[in-house]
Amino acid sequence: MSGHGDAQPMTSAKCGPLRGTASVPGDKSISHRALIFGAMAVGETKVTGLLEGQDVLDTAKAMRAFGATVTRHGEGHWTVNGVGVGGFQEPADVIDCGNSGTGVRLIMGTMATTAMTATFTGDASLRKRPMGRVTDPLSLFGTQAYGRKGGRLPMTVVGAANPVPVRYALPVASAQVKSAVLLAGLNAPGETVVIEKEPTRDHSERMLVGFGASLNVEKSKDGHVITLVGRPELRPQTVAVPRDPSSAAFPTCAALIVEGSDILVPGVSQNLTRNGLYITLVEMGAKIEFQNPREEGGEPVADLRVQFSDTMKGIEVPPERAPSMIDEYPILSVVAAFATGKTVMRGVKELRVKESDRIDAMARGLEACGVTIEEDEDTLIVHGMGAGGMPGGATCKTHIDHRIAMSFLVAGMASQREISVDDGSPIVTSFPIFESLMNGLGSAIRRG
Ligand code: S3P
Repeated sequence: MSGHGDAQPMTSAKCGPLRGTASVPGDKSISHRALIFGAMAVGETKVTGLLEGQDVLDTAKAMRAFGATVTRHGEGHWTVNGVGVGGFQEPADVIDCGNSGTGVRLIMGTMATTAMTATFTGDASLRKRPMGRVTDPLSLFGTQAYGRKGGRLPMTVVGAANPVPVRYALPVASAQVKSAVLLAGLNAPGETVVIEKEPTRDHSERMLVGFGASLNVEKSKDGHVITLVGRPELRPQTVAVPRDPSSAAFPTCAALIVEGSDILVPGVSQNLTRNGLYITLVEMGAKIEFQNPREEGGEPVADLRVQFSDTMKGIEVPPERAPSMIDEYPILSVVAAFATGKTVMRGVKELRVKESDRIDAMARGLEACGVTIEEDEDTLIVHGMGAGGMPGGATCKTHIDHRIAMSFLVAGMASQREISVDDGSPIVTSFPIFESLMNGLGSAIRRG
């Protein structure tokens, strides 16, 4: 699984209309945070709707290794008995975060200001990803980190015994880096300040306030200035994890490209730091109705009615929208292939350091399926072939990346010939019920 086990080839063939309700699992970002913040509160945090994907299970295991009691009571229903800010115990063994960049970066931040040493590793994908973006700001607190060349895992982090608070302007738009600094700031005396030019997902800020920290966000000419007062006593909470808009993207986009489809996708987050894909799809001419707007688990949500849309047009996606749809470019590039005209995605070089180099993975796979692509370091351009226009008939490499695997399986539902992926096993990291949910709607995904 996720690069540790055997590859699982999968194939998706052209299918009839998708019909029914696509109830996707809990949000991955919020699930990681519920476990981590729960571990830093004294007392019992209750979590419902937790995503039981491998990434989150790896974070649960890590929280146990640092001394928290994490218990599963039933599907999505978990409790965390936390140890308090600064209360982590030194883990007895290496922390393996599997495929999860969010897991490893947030946990490094959490232990960085406590006097202890921990060694982190992950699967072959995670071991290629840069950790310097987190350990650089953590060094300002007094933390030391020793990794492989280029700041790669495995890495040993020595927490600061006498941390000082920091003021840090993010050089990249990254919620993981922002969150790691804020989590480290929890156990530093005084005020830790993070400045972000472009707003990234704000789940850590919302949850910190919910758990009782004193956190203030001010909009200035430099962007968002987030100020956290260190050493709060976090109070345990009840966290209802909303559904994951990044997972909802797959049935949504599938329905847009499969002829005759008409589905309901309930409870999709309309949080402005997460809904960039949905804005983009509407601009392309997708038939999406946003019904029943309301609040769920502290997030604004709506139910989406999504219908096959045969007149979608390529657009220029504004680069400043990237942080709010950073995980959705792979599936957007599939939709773009079924639109007419060019879809231009600029300012997307962060995609090169995700679970895989997603610009390269999508470009090579789409080309193999007969789509014309242009790319440079920071840009992906897809030349649309119109509804039903993609030839398909290829096996695409997923590079231990769940979203690449799911994107090509969705493409296969509407391409002329079937599309295979060399390894669908990483799908369990974020969307373990993907295959059964999609086939329940009418897709034809099979193993092999
Ligand atoms: C995440 C932030 C994003 C995103 C990832 C989840 C988070 O990463 O790609 O899937 O939960 O904070 P970056 O912070 O690297 O942009």
